[in-house]
Amino acid sequence: MTISLPHGGTLIDLWEPTYDISKITNSIEIDAIALSDLELIGTGAYSPIKGFFSKRDYDAVVKTMRLSSGHVWSIPITLPLTEAAAKTLTIGEEVKLTHEGETYGVLTVSDIFTPDKKLEATWVYQTDDEQHPGVKNLYDRGNVYAGGEIKLVKRIERTQFHAHYLDPVETRADFAAKGWKTVVGFQTRNPVHRAHEYIQKTALEIVDGLFLNPLVGATKSDDIPADVRMESYKVLLEKYYPEDRVSLAVFPAAMRYAGPREAIFHAMVRKNYGCTHFIVGRDHAGVGDYYGTYDAQKIFGNFNADELGITLLFFEHSFYCKACGNMASAKTCPHRKEDHVILSGTKVREMLRNGEIPPATFSRKEVIEVLIEGLKKNEVYN
Ligand code: ADX
Repeated sequence: MTISLPHGGTLIDLWEPTYDISKITNSIEIDAIALSDLELIGTGAYSPIKGFFSKRDYDAVVKTMRLSSGHVWSIPITLPLTEAAAKTLTIGEEVKLTHEGETYGVLTVSDIFTPDKKLEATWVYQTDDEQHPGVKNLYDRGNVYAGGEIKLVKRIERTQFHAHYLDPVETRADFAAKGWKTVVGFQTRNPVHRAHEYIQKTALEIVDGLFLNPLVGATKSDDIPADVRMESYKVLLEKYYPEDRVSLAVFPAAMRYAGPREAIFHAMVRKNYGCTHFIVGRDHAGVGDYYGTYDAQKIFGNFNADELGITLLFFEHSFYCKACGNMASAKTCPHRKEDHVILSGTKVREMLRNGEIPPATFSRKEVIEVLIEGLKKNEVYN
């Protein structure tokens, strides 16, 4: 048994495939982000949340980073609709939640409200700049929010990496079967580079298992596509990680790019998957220059250890130091900046596009090979 309790104490389970939807006449079409949220609520990944946010939870989370119950929660889980769609809803009724014509869930409508999106952006993203990809997404979605508890009646069909879609109940059972008492969660939206590998393995020195949990929901168009990343994780794990100490499963949520707020969200969800520890490195879930390098670590100072219920492992910005001949950080390396190999994801994509090979001190050659192949296949990078 792992020692981590789900957030709120109980793993939420709203999966009801036999729920009778035949008498529900009203339905609303939801977008891909809401669809992934629906599934993650239903499987308990978002425990203790049981539905799309009511006005009360929304206001509480936006301004205080807590649900109205007091539980820590940092990102509003909303169901945005057009004004026209919202007008068809009545408080108290059940509606089908459909995507591309298929019904995936049922919502019992408890709230219909119009959010102040600028305010939401300013509190959650710390900016109302439309250039911020998370803020842009927020503005692009419907202007009215519907809230209420859900039931999940159909699972999303998985066309790729099927074996790596695991629900919290499955990852918890898997960790227990492996005999892991402590498990560190790792969020990523990138291929695993040497800095990631370094912090994961440093963490592995003190815990039993690594839960490599790449996000595969919607990301911005210039991030590396999930299928290419999955390939790169597999080759890396095969060659450089002990098989019995790593579990690879995808996190099917959308990326919000909300930096510090998203780091809290990421940690709470990994707690639900059964992690006892969670890694937060430099500029976690950040984008551009919107957040300070360690803001996503500092934000956890707002909460005490008991209410978080997961141990955070904070890492300094790490790099390869040519003088040390090792991966290192400012905490361990006395050498000059000129000795440090520091490449960003953006820089690497640029190099790959120009046919340049990033150095082995930045990325394992097996990872680069997969990225180059993936790049050829994906027109986005041509
Ligand atoms: S994220 O948006 O999913 O956070 P990314 O995949 O780049 O982006 O990062 C995954 C995790 O590794 C995050 O916790 C991030 O802070 C950390 N990280 C990324 N690069 C470094 C680095 N060079 N040094 C330390 N931590 C890093």
